[in-house]
Amino acid sequence: MVNFFTTAVGIFRRLINLLIALASLLLSAIWLTIRDLYYCIANLFLPRRHVGSVVLSDHPGHGGVWPQFQAPIQATDSRSPCPALNALANHDILPRSGKHISYKQLSHAIQHAYNLAPSLADQLTASAYQLDQGRGWIDLQDLSALNVIQHDASFTRPDIAFCPDQGAPHPDLVDKFLSHASNGKSLSLDDIVYFSGLRRAECRRTNGQYSMTWSFLHQFFGSGNNALMYSVFGGDVKDLRVWLAEERFPDQWEPKNREARGHTIMQAMSTTLIIELNINEKRKLRSEAREP
Ligand code: HEM
Repeated sequence: MVNFFTTAVGIFRRLINLLIALASLLLSAIWLTIRDLYYCIANLFLPRRHVGSVVLSDHPGHGGVWPQFQAPIQATDSRSPCPALNALANHDILPRSGKHISYKQLSHAIQHAYNLAPSLADQLTASAYQLDQGRGWIDLQDLSALNVIQHDASFTRPDIAFCPDQGAPHPDLVDKFLSHASNGKSLSLDDIVYFSGLRRAECRRTNGQYSMTWSFLHQFFGSGNNALMYSVFGGDVKDLRVWLAEERFPDQWEPKNREARGHTIMQAMSTTLIIELNINEKRKLRSEAREP
């Protein structure tokens, strides 16, 4: 029977659940920070990995030799809005089907293929927890849910309002992004900042359902992805074209970040903040000649 007492119990139960959730979130954030600090300090003292051995010898991709690429089968394979994860599935480092992937598998794969510190790999993986409905695993396609991690104004996919299938890159968009390398060969941080502002302004203007305007978290996620891309590829246009448009590792490619214990959360955070805080959607356009 519904009465004042049952309602009060309902409020109390929800408050307790909220407190437990907040406490466990806080504890895992503290634990992640301590681990990350350890990797930051280790990186300060240990020599960087040698060129040719950035991916360790017992992992796929060592010496730039990646398992065979196979484009996904559209009808059956599951793919995400993330080029990093799709490339891993296309090379069979994650299951080619893109289905039933555990968090341990996910974290392990991104850590070794992209030379990330275990703390950063775990943090990125944790962003998918909200999508698994308590199953403990995901299909790559689950990551396409709007405004959980996926957001508008991506560099390689049109907004979901125009393109419900976020699992495949659009090479024309990739070309447009890469054409903004001011020296033609390598995107600088400033090129990425400039293009982010341009892309956000364009999507805001053309998409009546644009959802990034007040979503600072998703703006931050977007810059976070681009910061990682910049650190791992060093802005190299030739490599990025293969990775972003085909979701394939270029032959002989290895991560440009060579930290002994992998790229850390603190490094990723600082590059993310540099990008995000410099984005200005109203910035003066570069000269016409460079616009696609
Ligand atoms: C388990 C870890 C990861 C998860 C769950 C994840 C998830 C996602 C999702 C949902 C998006 C779509 C965001 C959007 O709408 O643009 C995305 C985009 C992206 N991710 Fe990941 N990601 C992970 C790891 C990585 C890693 C390790 C890298 C870099 C090496 C990376 C690079 C990118 C880039 C560059 C984009 C933007 C693509 C675009 O703008 O079109 N991700 N990721």
